Amino acid sequence: MDRTQVVIPAADMARQRDFTNKLSELFRQRGGAPKAWVETYGCQQNVADSQRLMGMLRDMGCPFTGDPMEAGLIVINTCAIRENAENRVYGLLGRLVHAKEKNPNLIVCLCGCMAQQEVVAQKVRASYRHVDLVFGPQALWRFPELLYNVCTQHRRMFSIEEEHGSIAEGMPVVRESAVKAWVSIMYGCNNFCSYCIVPYVRGRERSREPGDILAEVRELVDQGYKDITLLGQNVNSYGKDLETPMDFADLLSEIDKIPGDYLIRFMTSHPKDAGDKLFQTMARCAHVARQLHLPVQSGNSRVLKAMNRGYTREQYLEKVRAARSAMPDLVLTSDIIIGFPGETEAEAMDTVSLVREVRYDALFTFIYSPRPGTPAARMPDPATREEKQVWFDRLLDAQNEISGQLHRSYVGQTVRVLVDGESGDARWPLSSRTNGGRLVHLRGDASLIGRYADVLITDSNTWALFGEVK
Ligand code: SAH
Ligand code: SF4
Ligand code: F3S
Repeated sequence: MDRTQVVIPAADMARQRDFTNKLSELFRQRGGAPKAWVETYGCQQNVADSQRLMGMLRDMGCPFTGDPMEAGLIVINTCAIRENAENRVYGLLGRLVHAKEKNPNLIVCLCGCMAQQEVVAQKVRASYRHVDLVFGPQALWRFPELLYNVCTQHRRMFSIEEEHGSIAEGMPVVRESAVKAWVSIMYGCNNFCSYCIVPYVRGRERSREPGDILAEVRELVDQGYKDITLLGQNVNSYGKDLETPMDFADLLSEIDKIPGDYLIRFMTSHPKDAGDKLFQTMARCAHVARQLHLPVQSGNSRVLKAMNRGYTREQYLEKVRAARSAMPDLVLTSDIIIGFPGETEAEAMDTVSLVREVRYDALFTFIYSPRPGTPAARMPDPATREEKQVWFDRLLDAQNEISGQLHRSYVGQTVRVLVDGESGDARWPLSSRTNGGRLVHLRGDASLIGRYADVLITDSNTWALFGEVK
């Protein structure tokens, strides 16, 4: 596909704004825009997508509510990464049958990664007849048109056909924080890790133009945002599809030139494409946080090959060494899957030994969940759920011990944090992040939100640090 087929023309985006205006007029004629409830599952990319959906809803005149029973319009932005993510959505859809019976005018929209799967669309078509609109992530930019059709033609709409995916610039956005913001730099994934559904539901890798990304970051910095996370399934393959290719490290260097007091984070980095140029660039750029999320998935080279990850245990460890030699204070996190089909106990314990060797600051750990349509779902999987759970618990024990030790080493130190919100805990009412992204609960008042503070760390546990403003 060449770029002209990928980037949505400005005229088509303008047409969507026309539909937004028409909807706002239609709602006005019908006695007021419905209250909208937007529920988001899944990763930060989905959170960022929901902020766009909310931008469009706001422009249609919809107020937002946190209570689905009060809503006239419900948007469920779904995730397909593991079976339990899907089950939660089916559970919610089941509960909404009652809401629709009470309010026949209620509009229910199902979107996101789950909605892009044909099997899900079929199931919704047949068994969840109270869902009015189903659309995949690739159709997000056409939400105003799809919703307009639902509202005026009084029929159910399904829009899941497009598989490659596009780039839509200029969508409105509602950002829920005044401190932290997400910026997608690319969409889709080409890696086809054998267990993963993402490439099937998010389409092919496509990069936004550097100029559009720089303009968005500049605007956020001007508005006072201080913690900006660049998003992509594999940010290290950024730019390969641009007409004038530019790699991710160069993009970071360009962003770093934007003046201001802010930090840039990014996720996710695929280890196969992470290298010295990236680590040196991170080390050099003052605005780039000393934080790297480098998902290893497994510590055993045979399993890594079966996963189609493109690196061995040794190659991964070498990258970690290189990253730490460029940035000795680097905060390193990872994702791990236990119980990949055919994984033995010894292989799972190789993952535990890798975790002990690397000593991550934190981990996101998962038990393998078969995703229909992926190669791994067709592989023999003899280990029982109970066995996998035992391996998983050993991994957690190892990581909890390491996180606890690393966190204890902060106690007594003074660190600079960005206060980013309220914690909901009366004893430590504020939440904040270190440069490396570690969570610090603080005593202090809400006027500190959005500011940097020097904090004395007084206590810690496995998951967080606790401190006092100096
Ligand atoms: N693009 C990112 C990952 C996105 S999905 C990357 O490559 O690192 C987030 C995490 O979910 C993955 O890193 C993996 O650990 C986990 N995951 C993906 N598919 C899974 C599956 N079928 N079962 C269990 N965990 C899975
Ligand atoms: Fe999934 Fe692999 Fe792509 Fe990450 S890189 S989204 S794990 S296929
Ligand atoms: Fe889930 Fe889609 Fe993200 S499957 S993890 S919401 S890309």
